[in-house]
Amino acid sequence: MRAVVYADVRTVEVREVPDATLEAETDALVRVTSTALCGTDLHMYDGRTSAEPGLVLGHEPLGVVQEVGSAVQTVRPGTRVVIPTHLFCGTCVMCARGRSAACLRARAEGPGAAYGYAGMGPYRGAQAGLLRVPWADANCVPVPGEPGDAYEDDFVLLADAFVTGWHAAATLAGVEPGDTVAVFGAGTIGLLGAYSALLRGAGVVYCVDDVDARLDKAGEIGAVPIDFRRGDPVEQIRADRARAGLPLGEEKLGGVDKVIDAVGFQARDRERPDQERPDQVISDAARLVNPTGAIAVAGVYPDRDPHPGPGADGHENLVAPWGTLFSKGVAVRFGRTHDRRYTVLLRDLVVAGRARPSVVVTHHGALADAPELYRSFDRRENGLIKAVLHPS
Ligand SMILES: NC(=O)c1ccc[n+]([C@@H]2O[C@H](COP(=O)([O-])OP(=O)(O)OC[C@H]3O[C@@H](n4cnc5c(N)ncnc54)[C@H](O)[C@@H]3O)[C@@H](O)[C@H]2O)c1
Ligand SMILES: [Zn+2]
Ligand SMILES: [Zn+2]
Repeated sequence: MRAVVYADVRTVEVREVPDATLEAETDALVRVTSTALCGTDLHMYDGRTSAEPGLVLGHEPLGVVQEVGSAVQTVRPGTRVVIPTHLFCGTCVMCARGRSAACLRARAEGPGAAYGYAGMGPYRGAQAGLLRVPWADANCVPVPGEPGDAYEDDFVLLADAFVTGWHAAATLAGVEPGDTVAVFGAGTIGLLGAYSALLRGAGVVYCVDDVDARLDKAGEIGAVPIDFRRGDPVEQIRADRARAGLPLGEEKLGGVDKVIDAVGFQARDRERPDQERPDQVISDAARLVNPTGAIAVAGVYPDRDPHPGPGADGHENLVAPWGTLFSKGVAVRFGRTHDRRYTVLLRDLVVAGRARPSVVVTHHGALADAPELYRSFDRRENGLIKAVLHPS
């Protein structure tokens, strides 16, 4: 089969690799019809992880079951399925609690596993013709319709992007009706975090970035775009809140109730945008959040950055403004998405016509287009926000 592999820093290649096959009686083999590129893939592409050349990339599969092992009961060849990014056993105590991204059985070295990701287990990625799906009854989530129908882009985003935006807004930030929300990063995760916050009834949602196409998209989905090239985003948001008119006695609530970090450790330094500053977003968030608010960290922070960018030191022990967070009584929650908690819920919002996450998809291509799409995505050029590949 053909697959997108990590070849070297800022180089992916489309190569012929051995076909994925059934390896256990609980496996399914899925023919991938759509598979997206994620900001997480860029951390590998940029050489910022321990990814080894030859790794098959991709963790956002939608497809059709081609073959199942003898113990698989709930899906059969021909079933259209979306596969959550973080694969899981479905029966350990973490899975039983709905914490599938911390499954105790999917990876020998620690909690949780994912397809096509350095340090997240031996599982090959989904930017390929075929994908082996372990514990298929737990990991194959049926979706209605036919490959290539009007929901193809919505359903592929159920693997990772929409569930992560929802997890950040609903579970990590705890967005409730009427909340004011600021999202740092208007990539796919930030945009779908903002979209989820709006679905949950947030009063106003700000989206901070400095890429025109992404700021425009934030406006399109109903958020207020904040361009950090125009100055400190914290001051811009406070000024907007003051303009809107804070009720008498509520002036101390001139920030926002909930903040989502959808940037991660490769955050750019706003003072020197050619440099990185991994603590940029947490320091902005701490200044902006209202007393007793919450900060959701969905952007990735690794244990160690093997090749830090200019301005970063590669150390996981970032300085965070503990004093500010403590005196405001802020909850800070981190983490990988327990995808499977939300897959069916969000699928049904899509099917009911209440959510169209595909609004963030800007590009499509064949596997052969992967090198070019990775290049544009990495440079945030050509209006690329979310690209979807179609291996078959
Ligand atoms: N928690 C999870 O399970 C999970 C799942 C998927 C993705 N992620 C992570 O979420 C993050 C975002 O993913 P994405 O696909 O949207 O990536 P992306 O690279 O498309 O988006 C990141 C955005 O952040 C912006 N940015 C950079 N510095 C900034 C700053 N100082 N302030 C505001 N914006 C800034 C960039 O311009 C870019 O638009 C990545 O770190 C990714 O690894 C986490
Ligand atoms: Zn991802
Ligand atoms: Zn488990």
